[in-house]
Amino acid sequence: MIEIKNLHFKYHSQTEEVLTGIDLSIKKGEFVSIIGPSGCGKSTLCLTLNGIIPKTISGEFSGDVIIDGINTKDREVSEFSRRVGMILQNPESQLFAMTVEEELAFGPENLAIPREEIEERISWALSIVDMGNKRDEFPGNLSGGQKQRIAIAASLTMKPDILVLDEPTSQLDPVGKREVFSVLKGLHEKEKMTIVLVEHRTEPIAELSDRVVVMDKGSIVLEGTPREVFEKVPLLRELGIMVPDISYLTYLLKEGGYVKDIALTVEEGRRLFI
Ligand SMILES: Nc1ncnc2c1ncn2[C@@H]1O[C@H](COP(=O)(O)OP(=O)(O)OP(=O)(O)O)[C@@H](O)[C@H]1O
Ligand SMILES: [Mg+2]
Repeated sequence: MIEIKNLHFKYHSQTEEVLTGIDLSIKKGEFVSIIGPSGCGKSTLCLTLNGIIPKTISGEFSGDVIIDGINTKDREVSEFSRRVGMILQNPESQLFAMTVEEELAFGPENLAIPREEIEERISWALSIVDMGNKRDEFPGNLSGGQKQRIAIAASLTMKPDILVLDEPTSQLDPVGKREVFSVLKGLHEKEKMTIVLVEHRTEPIAELSDRVVVMDKGSIVLEGTPREVFEKVPLLRELGIMVPDISYLTYLLKEGGYVKDIALTVEEGRRLFI
C-alpha cells in the first residue's frame, strides 16, 4: 500500500537533510507506529505520504513515495488528500463547520458525490467513531476526544485507503486519548484500514500496532513487531524512548534471570508470574 524508497528530504531553510534515506514498505491493512526523539523527522515523513512534500512544501527531495502504485511525484496533492486521510495534533485546527454533519459532508460534497451516498458515508463514519448522536451538534461544544473523533470521521467520509495520524492524542485528556485509541483499534480490526500512527506513548503502541518503526536523525534505526522493538530497552533509552512500564520491569527481571520473556501489556506481565 505504501512503498518508500531511498527517500531524502531537506527543507530549503535548513542546512541539513531531515530525511536521510528512508526505506519502508507498509502492507494493506497494516497498523504501523512511528516513534523517535523530537525533531527526528516523523512529521516530515507523514507529510510525504500525501504528497504535501514535495508538492506544496518544496525542498530538496529525492527518492520515491508510492501509494497504492502511484508515485506522489506524478499526481496533484488533491489526488492524495482523498486516498490518505491525515489527522493532526490539534483537532480544533481541523474543524470549521457549524454542525458535525456539515463537517462530515464537506469533503465528499467537494468531490461531487451524490447526496444519497454522502448520507451513507456520514452514517457509517459516525458509527465507527461512535458519535451518531452528535450529528447536529456544534463541533466547538464537544470535548477534545470527541473533536478528534469527528476529525477522524470527517477523514473517513473521503473513503481513504490509508489513515495517517500525527500525535493525534497529545493534546487530549486521558479519557480523550482512550476514546481515540479505541476508535483506531476498531478501524484496524473491523475495517482493515491501513494506519500509520506517530505517537510517543509506547503503551498504546504496544497494544495496537502490528509493527513499530523507530526513527532517529532522519533515518530508521529499528523496526519490528512491538515485542522485537520494545525488547531493545537499552537502545531505546539511549534515544530517550520509554518502553511501557511493564516491559521495562519485565526486561529487568529477565536480565536477572527471574522471568523468560518481556511483557508488552500488564495482562501479559501477570501471566509471567503465575
Ligand atoms: N516547515 C519546515 N521548514 C523548515 N524546517 C522544518 C519544517 N518543519 C520541520 N522542520 C525541521 O525539520 C526537523 C524535523 O522536524 P519534524 O517536525 O519532522 O520532526 P518530528 O520528529 O515530527 O518532531 P516532534 O516529535 O517534535 O514532532 C526539525 O529540525 C524541524 O525543525
Ligand atoms: Mg512531529
